[in-house]
Amino acid sequence: MLLSRLNNRLGRACVLALALAALAAPAPAAETAKAKSPVPAKTAVLLVTFGSSHAGALDQVRLIEPEVRAAHPGVEVAWAYTSAKVRQIMAQRGEKLDSPQEALAKLQARGFTRIVVQSLHVIPGAEFHDLVQEAQAFAHHGKGTRVVIGWPLLSDTNDLQALARIMLRAAAPGRQPDQALVWVGHGTHHPAGVAYPALAHALSQVDQRAYLGTVEGYPSFDDVLGQLKASGVKAIKLMPLLTVLGEHSKQDIAGDDADSWKSRLSAAGFTVTTDLTPVAGYSGARDLWLGHLAKAMRELQAEKSGQAKKAHATK
Ligand code: CO
Repeated sequence: MLLSRLNNRLGRACVLALALAALAAPAPAAETAKAKSPVPAKTAVLLVTFGSSHAGALDQVRLIEPEVRAAHPGVEVAWAYTSAKVRQIMAQRGEKLDSPQEALAKLQARGFTRIVVQSLHVIPGAEFHDLVQEAQAFAHHGKGTRVVIGWPLLSDTNDLQALARIMLRAAAPGRQPDQALVWVGHGTHHPAGVAYPALAHALSQVDQRAYLGTVEGYPSFDDVLGQLKASGVKAIKLMPLLTVLGEHSKQDIAGDDADSWKSRLSAAGFTVTTDLTPVAGYSGARDLWLGHLAKAMRELQAEKSGQAKKAHATK
């Protein structure tokens, strides 16, 4: 309920972005349109992730790029990174990473006038909201560039249930019969943080020994520890629910320091094994993102044929 209300609000934010994009668009060239079908404008997909400064952290999320190309032949694919801190660290190492605004400006300069901005975040939280605002601002000043935003992994209750099944499938290989599954997501103070307990509920409905906590939010470590103790399980498979394999996975979840999830669960008497495959390494999760992208591409097409309002209302 909360989540769906939130989604409605977010939906309006996206529609506003699109409405601004439509306002900024020039009138169609009627004379050429009458003569023949208009030449399809150059279309690009901007894939946007938080980023990471850890070597190899993005290997799994990058698997989505060839999948985007296969699903949308001929489309241009670019990347942007929402973490200013990650961009700064990488710049000091001599690797320039684009912010969403920079990447959008570059695409526009290269003549791409139709762009889907596909969020590769997990929840529609603060990172996603900032991205929507940036895309909005760009569309407003974009001199006719049309921008549609693709939703993050968890955009509605169907995604919750689908992701729960995907996670359980991904965790099945090598799982001991008595082993509980514990995922750890990021967590947030943002209202969209309600997605985490909602996903925990969806997981528990499929498997009573599947749990979800967060590094910085609710459910907390203590919440999950209480559930594990009450369940009577002794062995745990510990996994991240994060797009990339970075600091949170290597330190906060599976690090050797005493305050990591692995150390604290071990200290509490559980036998802990870890699998640090990031969520972008689950092919089913990438399929969920690709589904959101396909929907955004359809909205872009619908705008072309003057059905923008109808298409946006179907979220
Ligand atoms: Co963090």
